[in-house]
Amino acid sequence: MAEDFNQLREDLLRAVSAAASPEALETVRIDALGRKGRLTLAMKALGGLPPEERRAAGETLNRIKGDISAALGERAAALEAAALRQQLERERVDVTLPARPGGVPGLLHPLTQTWDEVVAIFGEMGFTVAEGPDIEDDFHNFTALNIPAEHPARQEHDTFYLRGENGQADPDRVLRTHTSPVQIRSMRTVPPPFRIIAPGRTYRADSDMTHTPMFSQVEGLVIDRGSHFGHLKGCLQEFCRAYFEVEEAPLRFRASYFPFTEPSAEVDIRCDRRDGELKIGTGDGWLEILGCGMVHPNVLRACGLDPEEWQGFAFGMGLERIAMLKYGIPDLRTFFDADLRWLRHYGFQPLETPSLLRGLRP
Ligand code: PHE
Repeated sequence: MAEDFNQLREDLLRAVSAAASPEALETVRIDALGRKGRLTLAMKALGGLPPEERRAAGETLNRIKGDISAALGERAAALEAAALRQQLERERVDVTLPARPGGVPGLLHPLTQTWDEVVAIFGEMGFTVAEGPDIEDDFHNFTALNIPAEHPARQEHDTFYLRGENGQADPDRVLRTHTSPVQIRSMRTVPPPFRIIAPGRTYRADSDMTHTPMFSQVEGLVIDRGSHFGHLKGCLQEFCRAYFEVEEAPLRFRASYFPFTEPSAEVDIRCDRRDGELKIGTGDGWLEILGCGMVHPNVLRACGLDPEEWQGFAFGMGLERIAMLKYGIPDLRTFFDADLRWLRHYGFQPLETPSLLRGLRP
């Protein structure tokens, strides 16, 4: 009896590993565990055994059943992975090929256009572009920005944590909730005085018409001996006039709070919402576009800068948000739908890099 069971186990395991497709594997499964499968029948036959033998045989069969089920599961996963690999190989696209003549013309995503415009404008003002990683650690995303462990701002950020080895959220692997950690990285590596902007992707667990789990911000940071709030205002004023391509872009600075700036402000821009259309720069309405402030002394100290010698200002704004305002895009989520009709409608001609000299848009 034990011999037969061993043979049965070997046969079935061999059949499982020989199955070359999900369909073949399903046949093997039915053959083993189906209503008339070999294991099922063997189990039914147990009833005919003398009670002394039945128990041991039942245990053996159950163990074999477990082994076969596990082997079936592993084989199914391996076949699935192989199929995916094949599919990826089949659908491989050579992105270096030239565009097909007469084909669909490639267009730039409005976010790319906005990103380029922002870089062009601040570039003209003497800012250089800085970068930081999307997966940040606690120090750069929070602590060095004057947001200690128990600070309520941590909850407000709806942070995504990556899991550590123990399966728990790892505080040192957060998807950055803002581009402000690039402030820290810059202050710790670039000798002052300097001006940087840091456009980049940011992440928060939030989703509706005006929030998506991934979005983009641009951070700005100026560190100098004598920089003050007037410089901050002038800088943002100039940016808004250039970006929205208007003569006047009246701004309103509303006192606000961010742990890493003091004083802090939220900035609104003049707008006209009459007749269901949004016009920036005129009218009697206000629309919030960014947060800013003077760099908090604690933040300077965390970066090894003496607040008695250095000061600076910082700002952060949502890139999709300012793209929506400028190009009249009503729903943030559509930015990430990859809908060709949307791209054709809102897309931009490639190779026409924005510049202030030639005009931002060709
Ligand atoms: N990091 C802030 C946010 O994401 C914006 C900000 C940046 C505010 C820099 C002040 C200074 O809301």
